[in-house]
Amino acid sequence: MKTEKLIEEAIKIRDSAYVPYSKFQVGAALLTKSGRVYTGCNIENAAYPVSCCAERVAIFKAISEGETEFQELAVAADTARAVPPCGSCRQVMSEFFPKTMVIHLTNLNKNTKSLTMEELLPFSFDTDDLLGS
Ligand code: THU
Repeated sequence: MKTEKLIEEAIKIRDSAYVPYSKFQVGAALLTKSGRVYTGCNIENAAYPVSCCAERVAIFKAISEGETEFQELAVAADTARAVPPCGSCRQVMSEFFPKTMVIHLTNLNKNTKSLTMEELLPFSFDTDDLLGS
């Protein structure tokens, strides 16, 4: 799938966002190595911290379906610049994405910033750190 199409999927799924509190719709579209696309939108809760970002919804949907290999991710929101993912989402991405995987951050004008996982979250905490020295 072309990146352009993945970005369009991310923009489209924003319509499903459940955002009664922030009114800020975010969409994500995750392309697997096998060519499947898992989309996600942000889902909020009256207990605010329980809310889940669009990126994590897309990733968790894919992981729960048994997917393990990912190719590209697109994230879209109605921001002035390409939308920067929150820190929690960057950490979750780093658990599942290779350091060279490209993540496309965009807005409704399709002003897009494409970064590798390593650029998005350098020096990240990972499983090796749990093993100690
Ligand atoms: N949000 C996302 O879904 N992804 C991001 O990368 C940034 C923030 C959501 C969380 C909350 O529902 C709303 O945007 C406002 O923070």
